[in-house]
Amino acid sequence: MLLQNKKVLITAGPTQEPIDPVRYISNHSTGKMGYALAAGCLEEGADVVLVSGPVSLTLSHPRLKIIRITTALEMLEESKKYFSQTDIAVFTAAVADYRPEFVADQKIKKNDDNFAIHMVKNPDIAKEFGMQKKTGQLSIGFALETNDEESNALKKLESKNLDLVILNSMQDDRAAFGYNTNKISIFSRTKARQDYPLKEKHLVACDIVAQISALLPVPVL
Ligand code: CTP
Repeated sequence: MLLQNKKVLITAGPTQEPIDPVRYISNHSTGKMGYALAAGCLEEGADVVLVSGPVSLTLSHPRLKIIRITTALEMLEESKKYFSQTDIAVFTAAVADYRPEFVADQKIKKNDDNFAIHMVKNPDIAKEFGMQKKTGQLSIGFALETNDEESNALKKLESKNLDLVILNSMQDDRAAFGYNTNKISIFSRTKARQDYPLKEKHLVACDIVAQISALLPVPVL
């Protein structure tokens, strides 16, 4: 068991940022990678807290706690409750970077020909954890990129103080949002790059868990 007695926090899925009572801004994340990782960590003996945006997936296990949230602010608030007890945090969520500054109480009617929504920045959950993590705590992030993949992924490794960053390229066929398969590259703090072939997401999860466990201190017997 690679993660026996480890406490793992995973964020997963999209967030939805309300505009009015009937509309929101979101993205195409289905949560599949995050849920596959939760299952992979449970198989390796971890206790898992999964903070999940709105997805149609479910998972149950005696060592799993799922917390369902809607917005980025809620995802941060719930995740924060577990930061201090977490050994390994894995940020798979596709958090909306911005939210509408004001949420209308009532359905917005169509009047004018143009309509603009003023957006404000959401907190960066991976970065908040990265800035406050203590020795022995690990954080792993994803980088979903359409261009300049490697340099963008490495920038995220630095700016969010991650221990590993997992690159998903939107240029790869049958990878990323919605698919049951994914193709990743993993970068470590030494900037070493490991490329993996296209695989089922549960097998991708095994590769990620193996890389995480390699960062853990070897137990003294
Ligand atoms: N992330 C997060 N909170 C945010 C934004 C991103 O926790 N508000 C995490 C994601 O879960 C992922 C990593 O940060 O692990 C990178 O997310 P990504 O969307 O690729 O990058 P951004 O930091 O949002 O930057 P950009 O959208 O400019 O590429």
